[in-house]
Amino acid sequence: MSSAETIILGVTGGIAVYKAADLCSKLVAEKFDVHVVMTENALKLISAKIFLTLSRNPVLTSLWEEAEWKPEHVALAEAADLMIVAPCTANFLGKFTHGIADDALTTTALTFAGTGKKILLAPAMNSNMWASPAVAENCKILRKRGIQFVGPAEGRLACGTKGAGRMCEPAEILAAAEKILSGK
Ligand SMILES: Cc1cc2nc3c(=O)[nH]c(=O)nc-3n(C[C@H](O)[C@H](O)[C@H](O)COP(=O)(O)O)c2cc1C
Repeated sequence: MSSAETIILGVTGGIAVYKAADLCSKLVAEKFDVHVVMTENALKLISAKIFLTLSRNPVLTSLWEEAEWKPEHVALAEAADLMIVAPCTANFLGKFTHGIADDALTTTALTFAGTGKKILLAPAMNSNMWASPAVAENCKILRKRGIQFVGPAEGRLACGTKGAGRMCEPAEILAAAEKILSGK
């Protein structure tokens, strides 16, 4: 890994995944060493090849294809300065809140959370999902633990409605990440 600040970019299976490619590109343009970890559902919406090319690093998609003696999710969690999950699905919020580690991303996130370093989540989902008591409760718990959120914003949603649930624009997520890293 390079000496630049290292960011883990977690990508989940939300429709806003197309914006995650732009976020990855913007982070690399700002000279961050970006390591993408994708869920299986994210892979159904977008190719890992996009993130491989944009991040210039291997993309972690499975715990069982890790090639090094030290599991990649452990090495990444130790090396990274910040973890961003964008888009962050309701499913990821639920699993992360309750300590479920059943894939590469949730296992990396749980390991990273144990290091005490900062985590930034950019939720993106249907407005009714965002308004659901379970999601609201999970976010409350995560905020209490010091997990930071950017968004979601209000506006036009892919499901054809308007409301809260839009993932923030990549520039806004980048700004939030830089603010956290600068310690301000
Ligand atoms: C086309 C499509 C778009 C989806 N968009 C979202 C979304 O924006 N937010 C969300 O929370 N779930 C969304 N889902 C549902 C998630 O993909 C589903 O809950 C899945 O279990 C998430 O898995 P992951 O968190 O491991 O990626 C979408 C599903 C489909 C088929």
